[in-house]
Amino acid sequence: MATKTDALLSVLKLQPVVPVLIVDDARSAVPLARALVAGGLKAIEITLRTPAALEAIRAVAEEVEGAVAGAGTILNPAQFDEAVKAGSQFIVSPGTTPALLSAARASSVPLLPGAATASEVMTLREEGFEVLKFFPAEQAGGAAYLKSLSSPLAGTLFCPTGGISLKNAMDYLSLPNVVCVGGSWVAPKELVAKGDWDGITRLAAEASQLGK
Ligand code: 3PG
Repeated sequence: MATKTDALLSVLKLQPVVPVLIVDDARSAVPLARALVAGGLKAIEITLRTPAALEAIRAVAEEVEGAVAGAGTILNPAQFDEAVKAGSQFIVSPGTTPALLSAARASSVPLLPGAATASEVMTLREEGFEVLKFFPAEQAGGAAYLKSLSSPLAGTLFCPTGGISLKNAMDYLSLPNVVCVGGSWVAPKELVAKGDWDGITRLAAEASQLGK
């Protein structure tokens, strides 16, 4: 039987970059997600930082063919459950708490939990998590820091997120312990506000070619 780790990896391996979205207006979610999918970015993380987020997840999950809708910035069990009910196929958190880990254990939807130190990684490994979000990637030490965790904490894979752009994405993607990166740069606020979906598809297409 496929494990939740397998399910998570199959989503994260769809593309080198997972777009991290802050959606202010739920009506923009579907055209935005369609633009990202058209550019080759199918797994999309919508953060629960705005009142529109759950409706945006629901709309993308139901209406955007080819998209894999996920929820980010999940801080507690209530948000975990709401995000799953809205149709999220993966859940992302910036860090972890015992309560959040219990919610994750009780759910069939995989969690990508955040970690930034060796101790956090070791604790999550004890809980059965092999694929983690390295957050906030640039601010916590960047690619050099993550590289230095690869030998002592071998077998752990990361999706670094935070401060990553087209300029530094390959620094991470070329590491043996990185499966993909996350970033908001593929969906800039200005382009979303203008409804420049072609512009977003171009950024997504550029990102989806990284490492190829
Ligand atoms: C965030 O915290 O918003 C995400 O980690 C994305 O970070 P970024 O905006 O630096 O890409």
